[in-house]
Amino acid sequence: MSIIERDTFFKLFGRGTFHGEPSIYMGFNDIEPILAFVQTFHLKTIIEIGIQRGATAKCILDNCPSVEKYIGIDIIPDSQTTLPIQQGEVPQIAGELIKGYHQAELIITPNGTRDLSPGHLPVADLILIDGDHSADGVFLDTILARQTIRKGGIICWHDYGNSLVPDVTRVIDDLNTIEGNRIFLIENGFLCFQICSEGR
Ligand SMILES: C[S@@+](CC[C@H](N)C(=O)[O-])C[C@H]1O[C@@H](n2cnc3c(N)ncnc32)[C@H](O)[C@@H]1O
Repeated sequence: MSIIERDTFFKLFGRGTFHGEPSIYMGFNDIEPILAFVQTFHLKTIIEIGIQRGATAKCILDNCPSVEKYIGIDIIPDSQTTLPIQQGEVPQIAGELIKGYHQAELIITPNGTRDLSPGHLPVADLILIDGDHSADGVFLDTILARQTIRKGGIICWHDYGNSLVPDVTRVIDDLNTIEGNRIFLIENGFLCFQICSEGR
């Protein structure tokens, strides 16, 4: 795994500034780099896989005026998560915290991203993968994200190194072994990213 020091990251990409609270699922160390990407590159279209109640979405929308479209994807409350440990995360009202935000669009289906193909999604500047944390889930979401991201766009994966959901780490490590370390971990956090040289 290639690890980028936080100071180096912020020198390269700027420091994400923010007011308000990060999501309980996304600590300060992980939201800050995402905000840095969006604020430095004035990103317009963002897709969040696994939007949950929308706490991260709200933080991004409240602090990044460049965002014109924010697509949040999740599953319906009755759905069964692939990993039993994730069942308690399924929101009763997905995206409720960004209700009324004109940039927000929600796609809530029984199987979330497994019901979607790139044709259902707009070309995106940044895609945050934070949905099904099983190996299949992370792998399929990576394929979907890579088919949806624009050339030069950024894919972020959350929960690398989180021992509660070890498949995330395993899938990213496997991809890096096969592809030659194109995905970077930001030091002292659970967020990985790739700047995509290929895209739509
Ligand atoms: C860790 S939570 C996401 C937290 C959120 N990104 C945040 O920062 O506040 C994981 C979310 O993924 C959703 N999820 C699980 N399986 C999914 C799937 N196949 N497609 C989309 N979302 C899924 C869960 O319902 C849950 O809301």
